[in-house]
Amino acid sequence: MTIHVPSVDGEPAEAGRRAQLPDALPVLPLRDSVAFPDTMMPLAVGQERSIKLVDDALAGNRMMVMVASRDPEAEEPGPDQLYGVGVVGVVARMMKVPDGTVRILVQCSQRVELGDYVATAPYLVARITEAPDVLVPSSELEGLRRNVQATFSRIIEELPYLPEELLLAVANLEDPAELAHLIAGALRVKTEEKQRLLEERDVTRRLRLLSEILARELELVEIGSKIQTQVQSEMERGQREYFLRQQLRAIQEELGEVDEQQAEAAELRRQLEEANLPEHVSTVAERELARFERLPPQSAEHGVIRGYLEWLASLPWSRSTEDNLDLKHARAVLDRDHYDIERVKDRILEFLAVRKLNPEARSSIVLFVGPPGVGKTSLGRSIASAMGREFERMSVGGVRDESEIRGHRRTYIGAMPGTIVRALRDAGSNNPVLMIDEIDKMGADFRGDPASAMLEVLDPEQNSSFRDHYLDVPIDLSNVFFICTANQIDTIPPALLDRMEVIELSGYTHEEKREIATRYLVPRQMERNGLGRSKIGRGQAAGGSRGAAIVFTKPALDSMIEGYTREAGVRSLEREIGSICRKVAREFAEATRRSKRTIRRETVEELLGKPRFQPEVKRRTSEPGVATGLAWTPVGGDVLFVEAIAYPGDGKLQITGQVGDVMKESAAAALSYVRNLNGEVPPDWFKEHDLHVHVPAGAIPKDGPSAGITMATAIASRVTERPVRSDTAMTGEITLSGMVLPIGGLKEKALAAQRAGINRLIIPRRNERDIDDIPEPLRKKMKFTLVDSVDEVLDAALQKRARRSRPAQPG
Ligand SMILES: Nc1ncnc2c1ncn2[C@@H]1O[C@H](COP(=O)(O)OP(=O)(O)OP(=O)(O)O)[C@@H](O)[C@H]1O
Ligand SMILES: [Mg+2]
Repeated sequence: MTIHVPSVDGEPAEAGRRAQLPDALPVLPLRDSVAFPDTMMPLAVGQERSIKLVDDALAGNRMMVMVASRDPEAEEPGPDQLYGVGVVGVVARMMKVPDGTVRILVQCSQRVELGDYVATAPYLVARITEAPDVLVPSSELEGLRRNVQATFSRIIEELPYLPEELLLAVANLEDPAELAHLIAGALRVKTEEKQRLLEERDVTRRLRLLSEILARELELVEIGSKIQTQVQSEMERGQREYFLRQQLRAIQEELGEVDEQQAEAAELRRQLEEANLPEHVSTVAERELARFERLPPQSAEHGVIRGYLEWLASLPWSRSTEDNLDLKHARAVLDRDHYDIERVKDRILEFLAVRKLNPEARSSIVLFVGPPGVGKTSLGRSIASAMGREFERMSVGGVRDESEIRGHRRTYIGAMPGTIVRALRDAGSNNPVLMIDEIDKMGADFRGDPASAMLEVLDPEQNSSFRDHYLDVPIDLSNVFFICTANQIDTIPPALLDRMEVIELSGYTHEEKREIATRYLVPRQMERNGLGRSKIGRGQAAGGSRGAAIVFTKPALDSMIEGYTREAGVRSLEREIGSICRKVAREFAEATRRSKRTIRRETVEELLGKPRFQPEVKRRTSEPGVATGLAWTPVGGDVLFVEAIAYPGDGKLQITGQVGDVMKESAAAALSYVRNLNGEVPPDWFKEHDLHVHVPAGAIPKDGPSAGITMATAIASRVTERPVRSDTAMTGEITLSGMVLPIGGLKEKALAAQRAGINRLIIPRRNERDIDDIPEPLRKKMKFTLVDSVDEVLDAALQKRARRSRPAQPG
């Protein structure tokens, strides 16, 4: 910087210029600046040896050599730490400051090369030789001069630290060598760079170097102001931190230094913006994003935060589908997918109607209860498709840990959101139909009760701000249409059940299964296995009629229902149909068959092997002492055999087969009743025999009172040696006085009886009205005997033939 300086003590400031140089001069090290010829340089001198040097100089010829230090950290640099080229300076002014340091103003003159150091104390003294400029005028030189002048002028305009006066000085300087020195002295660039400028004696080369440096500086200056404007437009958001980050990023972008982490952060930010988070979530996201940018990528937390932000971005915060509440359309979709179940469909349509009339109403939760394979899940899917909503399902069966539903806190290693949030993400909209399967099979243990979490999920009062432990921000579930499914109601926590609208589905009769198979399962499996009309061409009918590649006859379906499946629903039936379709598809593919395949009863056996289920009632009840009962189970009804055997003893009763207490009591009551049967029981029979009652079949839970009359019948059959009719099954509770009390689950029990090939049922008279629940075809086929007392049961159940021969029987 040129500063015009008045003379010191009356001496002219120009005194030292181009003075005759002595052989050696004291050396004043410059810590982080470089002196240039033909400039004035203000210096603060603090070191003792330097103050001594200045004092001595002022006392003598005022001259010294100023040399930059290679190492700005060095306190008292020695000869090795100094550059080999410096500038001669003449002290023009000196001022002592009260703190003991000295301010001097130095007029810099010739460039010199330093030779040997002749003294190092009290200060450095070195031999010097002048190193003058080499100036070869050329047009390049002139061009460079103008370029440098112009560039520097622009820099001055932009840079606050350069005084305006420089502009004038630079504009007026004709001498390229001096120009270079002036500019180099004024620039704030690295010491090495300045030193290079100083050491370059060839003026042309020096200007070339300088113009490079200036070009770079100008670019930086311009970037700086570009950032300034960029940032200013963003400043309205009033975020200081944001401002600095933008600035940092802009700089890095210009330098091509956008590193992976930044790129990652930018990508995350983009995803989050796309997700359109609600206000309260976006604040959290912003905070985490800021942490993410600060953390080193190697740190464990870096990954944790990234995972978290990705989860936030992946949820459908503001993506929703529009509801279609057209009831006609809904009806059509339900009919398209499901045979009959009119009552269920009606309930669903009523439900949708209510929603249509009062969209604001907090929706209640639907619960489908019924045995497996009766269409609970597929109904849920149909509802979603009828309403135009996404469908997603999750199972809570066997869940014993609250965190499976609600997620783990982020502090756990490998923490994840719970299943609700995962389902929401998979659904991709915030108002899906969400099916929660097996709500009756949820457990609980020390890790917290999942039912309480479910309660929060399903409660319309609370679920608008459901909190997942992992995400830890409120999530609105109030637009989700929840449908739960269960096989039974008993095991559902009452508080949950309370909030649900229960829709019951029951098993299908043989006829219904055949109908479902013909209209739905066969066409679907044909389609899936490429046997539909599309494949074979000519035909047009589906479901096994003319023109299709495969035709199922009625007897074939009957035998599949009877001999290959034993279920309340139609899932296994669909699987068996599928398996036949695959085999036939293969025949076509391998070209062992060209014309359509008709599936008859024999074909089924040919393709599926021997029937898996044989009617066993006849075989089991051929001996006296075995009676057929009916049980209700969560998977539908089932038949249950009660066996009674007698052996020598004195009237004791043993009961086995893992039966529960209630059933044991029933057995005792049955026994008491039979003991007191008059006439039927040989006298003294109980004095000579013990009884063993056994209830085989491990899978069926055996408790409850409804096997009472079956036990009495088995015992009576054993005692009287009259076999039980093999076409008959029974269900009913028993009292000590021989009354028969009503039971539950008649429909499922009747369906089970049909599956077992039974066509006669003995049931309590007080269950009469339940017969209406049983589908018509089955009701017609099945003969019901209504009873009030055990006497009537025995009359109806035991074969007569034996009674007639009873007197001849041994005791
Ligand atoms: N009434 C019906 N009409 C047409 N298809 C049906 C009917 N009932 C069930 N199905 C079919 O039976 C199969 C099994 O049904 P789904 O999977 O819905 O049973 P689920 O009741 O959910 O059983 P689970 O309790 O085991 O989950 C599905 O392919 C379904 O389409
Ligand atoms: Mg299901």
